[in-house]
Amino acid sequence: MSVTWNLDSWRESEIRQVPKYGNKDHLDSVEDQLRLSPPLVFAGEARTLRDHLARVAQGEAFLLQGGDCAESFAEFRADNIRDTFKVLLQMAVALTFGASCPVVKVGRLAGQFAKPRSAPTETIDGKELPSYRGDIVNDMAFTPESREPDPDRMLRAYNQAASTLNLLRAFAQGGFADLHQLHRWNLDFVKESRQGEYYEEIATRIDETLGFMAACGLTSETIPQLRETDFYTSHEALLLNYEEALTREDTITAEKGWYATSAHLLWVGDRTRQFDHGHIEYLSGIQNPVGIKCGPSLEKDDLIRLLDKVNPNNETGKVVLICRMGSEKVNEHLPKLIKNIKANGKNVTWCCDPMHGNTIKASNGYKTRRVAEILNEVNNFFLVHKSEGTHPGGVHFEMTGSNVTECLGGANEVKESDLGSRYHTHCDPRLNGSQSLELA
Ligand code: PEP
Ligand code: CO
Repeated sequence: MSVTWNLDSWRESEIRQVPKYGNKDHLDSVEDQLRLSPPLVFAGEARTLRDHLARVAQGEAFLLQGGDCAESFAEFRADNIRDTFKVLLQMAVALTFGASCPVVKVGRLAGQFAKPRSAPTETIDGKELPSYRGDIVNDMAFTPESREPDPDRMLRAYNQAASTLNLLRAFAQGGFADLHQLHRWNLDFVKESRQGEYYEEIATRIDETLGFMAACGLTSETIPQLRETDFYTSHEALLLNYEEALTREDTITAEKGWYATSAHLLWVGDRTRQFDHGHIEYLSGIQNPVGIKCGPSLEKDDLIRLLDKVNPNNETGKVVLICRMGSEKVNEHLPKLIKNIKANGKNVTWCCDPMHGNTIKASNGYKTRRVAEILNEVNNFFLVHKSEGTHPGGVHFEMTGSNVTECLGGANEVKESDLGSRYHTHCDPRLNGSQSLELA
């Protein structure tokens, strides 16, 4: 943390991807309302996640991070949240069963609203308007009014995040995530796929084990780990007006310190990770675990500078490096980063985002990704870590429980001609439920 860090020191730094709000008084009043609103998560939970991520760094657990590319106001429905949660639980079961390793579950949920864009404006038929920056900033419709950033959207996003998190907490702790419910997590459309069948096989074997354990007196009543699960939330810390207003000082423990309370983990995107810019300045002052997206343009020495700034005490579990190189580039770029991290003795948790380096345009114009390329990047990520002797700590997916047709391929073979039928994403293409399970 820099000596001069304070809640709004990011405002003094150069910064990218910031919306231009027209009415300063309106913005101030929204920030004031958020500042008075209850925190969504509390410091102790963020510290527990950090401890879990430290175990991931040491190879004793695996990180599964997943959810929407962008949450939207339009798709805000209980069944969408439930189905994404179900698929994450199924993936965690497949991973735990396959690797005999605890899985740390982190959603891209309850706050993943702001999106970085490749250009500040968009032109359609000769008409130029500000780019859509996610529902927390403006509206996707291509009209001047819709594209105007509106501070009130931060309040709506906060409220949506609060009720999403409330439902997730109820699911995680209230019996829905009980291991005896394994079969109920299998969504109908997933059930019909090869992955769904394979999942049923695992579930049946786990049932048998649970039956044996029950005969020995170990049941959901006696063992809380069978009846509930830990679930954490995360999103990109892009809209710092929102993050700053929800950053609170921990008053409960003697350690004190500032915590982002909009989510347990915040990450910085590949476009805003310059070590002397505002986003890193903000993240360097909070005690939560933080993610850093590492794309192919990240220089190995800049990564060390970033770590020095964000994690000056080199604490294990504090930083997750979310690598998103692209399936072709991972073999070239990842080893350089790993070697330099080792040479500098830095403690990090490695994670693979096989989505953002593999985005293509289909011949019919849809932005999409091939499941085969996604799997290829994950495989290469594992192989590189194997040869470097480091831990491939986890994976980061853009996925949904809905039966969308946004990514190509998979066992149920989504073809280019299928993309139009259920393409609902507000930003990048997501894996559907069976594609997600297939990857797990
Ligand atoms: C994202 O995670 O949605 C994203 C924009 O990623 P990146 O910053 O890695 O491009
Ligand atoms: Co995305």
